[in-house]
Amino acid sequence: MINIDRLRARMTEMAKIGATPNGGVTRLALSEEDKRARKLFVKWMEEVGLDTRVDDFGNIYGKLHGLERGLPVVMAGSHLDTVPKGGNFDGVLGVLGALEAVESLIEQGVKPLRSIELVSFTNEEGARFTPQMLGSGAVTGQFTKDYVYTREDNKGFLFKDELEAIDFKGEESNRPREVSAFIELHIEQGPMLEIEQKSVGIVEGIAGFSWMQVEVAGQSDHSGSTPMSMRNDSLVKAAAIIQKISLWAENRDEQTVATVGNITTSPGIINAVPGETKFTIDFRHPNREELYKGMEEIKQLIKTEVEESSLSSTVKEIRTHQPVHFSNEICTLMEGTCRSLSHPYKHLISGAGHDAMYMQHITNAGMLFVPSINGKSHCEEENTEWEDIECGIVTLFHVLNKLANQPLGVASNNLNNNIKQ
Ligand code: HGY
Ligand code: MN
Ligand code: MN
Repeated sequence: MINIDRLRARMTEMAKIGATPNGGVTRLALSEEDKRARKLFVKWMEEVGLDTRVDDFGNIYGKLHGLERGLPVVMAGSHLDTVPKGGNFDGVLGVLGALEAVESLIEQGVKPLRSIELVSFTNEEGARFTPQMLGSGAVTGQFTKDYVYTREDNKGFLFKDELEAIDFKGEESNRPREVSAFIELHIEQGPMLEIEQKSVGIVEGIAGFSWMQVEVAGQSDHSGSTPMSMRNDSLVKAAAIIQKISLWAENRDEQTVATVGNITTSPGIINAVPGETKFTIDFRHPNREELYKGMEEIKQLIKTEVEESSLSSTVKEIRTHQPVHFSNEICTLMEGTCRSLSHPYKHLISGAGHDAMYMQHITNAGMLFVPSINGKSHCEEENTEWEDIECGIVTLFHVLNKLANQPLGVASNNLNNNIKQ
């Protein structure tokens, strides 16, 4: 059905770009490594005969033209950028797996009714330019062009300049037009599929997230001559807040997760009491009401912690997006496909964010997961069994084939009928 050795060879070649000493990868958005990965992806798509293009956010597309070119297209893909010292599967498996599925369709002489369009979205991780998913968010109306272009990384480089510097600033006219469905294959990045020994995850939705930046302001002082009783140490206060946030999340409910991933202090030297401390909060919850309630609880916790002191704090919301639920028709199609292929599967919700979260705003989006060994991701140990990957890509092959041959699009309820090969 598919050529798993070809996919494995491409994944191995892609993993060399930004490879880290411990077997992971660092390929930050719009970096030189990202540029090399993008060019390799375009090269492979063109070798397969796809019609490639790039939009004004650097999102890359490759189209297999359908018999009815006027029909809304079926899209599939994910992202090529990674977190620092990330794994070799997050995002890239969804991009190269979709390429493998489409190349196999071509090899089997399938002439789809609808065009099938591959995509790799820019800056999904939000590791260099926050917030995350800027590329997919921009083309689905979540962010203005000016907002995206003026995002700065922690060295003061602007998104627009960096996009131009890697020569991937394309045309606005190349953005997606009418899309009948978007399918993203991705590693689970959690333990559930492995625990239940399932090869395929049918993702029903994605938890909502809120990214915040907290600033605690105190007073810089000399570390040697300032008595402890006279200090307004912003880092000690931030540490107390961070501890309380972790306890709050642990005691709230099973589905609440909160992470402080980045902290900086100023002046940040060994012999000065930190006058200012900034840290990030990543809070997630799959329930809309609980997400917004939890955000208020976090803000109140910080206010209470600071008001009994002579320090001050501000909480800035970087980006909040409510939970999304994917199209029932697509989940049903995925389930029918797994059953017909006897692939062990499980329905689940994703705690991690994905471009499909934004694509759901403009079309019927759906996701297929494959298991993560020990549930690990966003680390160099990230790994998945190739037998599971093969199940996932074969499932993707059939799902794309069915969606691309539906005259009525996703709405039609006969998605699971056998289609002409
Ligand atoms: O943060 C996320 O959930 C994704 O990995 N960008
Ligand atoms: Mn990802
Ligand atoms: Mn990720």
